[in-house]
Amino acid sequence: MNLQVAQTNIPSGFIDLGAGEPGLDLLPVDMLREAASSRLSQNENEFLQYGVEQGDGYFRFALAKFLTPRYGFQVSHDNLFVTTGISSALDLLCTLYTQPGDTVFVEEPTYFLSLKIFADHGLRVASIRTDESGLVIDDLIHALSESTPKFVYVIPTFQNPSGHTLSPERRAQLLELAQKHNFLIIADEVYQFLGYTQTPPTSFAAHIDSNHVIALSSFSKILAPGLRMGWLHSNPQVIQRIVACGLLDSGGGMNPFTSAILCGLIEHGDLDKNLSKLVNVLGHRMQIMDEAIKKHLPQVKYTSPHGGYFFWLQISGMDAQELQKRAKEYQVGFRPGIRFSSRNGLNDYLRLSISHYDAANLEEGILRLKKCLE
Ligand SMILES: Cc1ncc(COP(=O)(O)O)c(C=O)c1O
Repeated sequence: MNLQVAQTNIPSGFIDLGAGEPGLDLLPVDMLREAASSRLSQNENEFLQYGVEQGDGYFRFALAKFLTPRYGFQVSHDNLFVTTGISSALDLLCTLYTQPGDTVFVEEPTYFLSLKIFADHGLRVASIRTDESGLVIDDLIHALSESTPKFVYVIPTFQNPSGHTLSPERRAQLLELAQKHNFLIIADEVYQFLGYTQTPPTSFAAHIDSNHVIALSSFSKILAPGLRMGWLHSNPQVIQRIVACGLLDSGGGMNPFTSAILCGLIEHGDLDKNLSKLVNVLGHRMQIMDEAIKKHLPQVKYTSPHGGYFFWLQISGMDAQELQKRAKEYQVGFRPGIRFSSRNGLNDYLRLSISHYDAANLEEGILRLKKCLE
């Protein structure tokens, strides 16, 4: 009988620098206990009912108020739809906007688990090269001359795995192309608020009026992934299409119970507090990791990330999967680049994450990697 609760299954003593989920020390149980007990002690139980399809209105209102100053433009609760995280939002969008055999474009590299969702829907995936400023627009134009995708899936800010951010110029070009060729931009902005040494460009949600943008975000990296909560930001047409789907007709809006608890948490200013703490802790880790890589792994090529979770290292002339086998002997892990490629490339890259370990363990992990590379 396997009674495991969490997915993480790292043997003791092993440092898995590849693990991309937050460490348990980053998950604010006290904050959630307080928010839950405050909500549950109120003499009202409507949130135990099936919820409205678009998601709890009070929660969307609180979320819009939280987002407005951070995005730097007015966010309306009418343009928000409550999801159970980006993964399920992507799955729902594939259900509603694609047919098996349709083409979608992704970045090369991209978030590897999105590729599995697209495969579940029988989609053909074409990948577009990226560089330090994100999607290479000339390559996108070339790909568009061969096929028109249903959507282009981008992680525009502090990308997983590269850490790169799509430049404002390229964002504008991508938008223009979406209008010209009539495809959707699905912007996965899960790391938008985790900037440590750089404020990223404005959220793609600023462009929902173009009718070509759906911006997705999540509480997984700013509060806790176990909540399974996120939001979709788009124009009324898109929201109406989603709200009318069979899943919501049958099950009602997503996660009304958790929404009710998070509503109080946001109104109380606790999401702001948690985010400030995360930016401090993770920013420090990123700095330590950056220094350790520079000092101990001079042979790798990379750009120092300004936010998010990840370091993307090029180990020219080496095979990351082979290295991974050898690294096990040194009790250290990472994710080989090939997992983030939809064309079996990038095998001389590897991804490291700062999310799972404290600074001392990150440094120790880099020292182990150094020995392994020697
Ligand atoms: C780019 C990206 N998108 C989506 C997710 C998953 O988001 P959620 O937990 O909201 O489903 C992750 C998690 O690592 C991610 O890195």
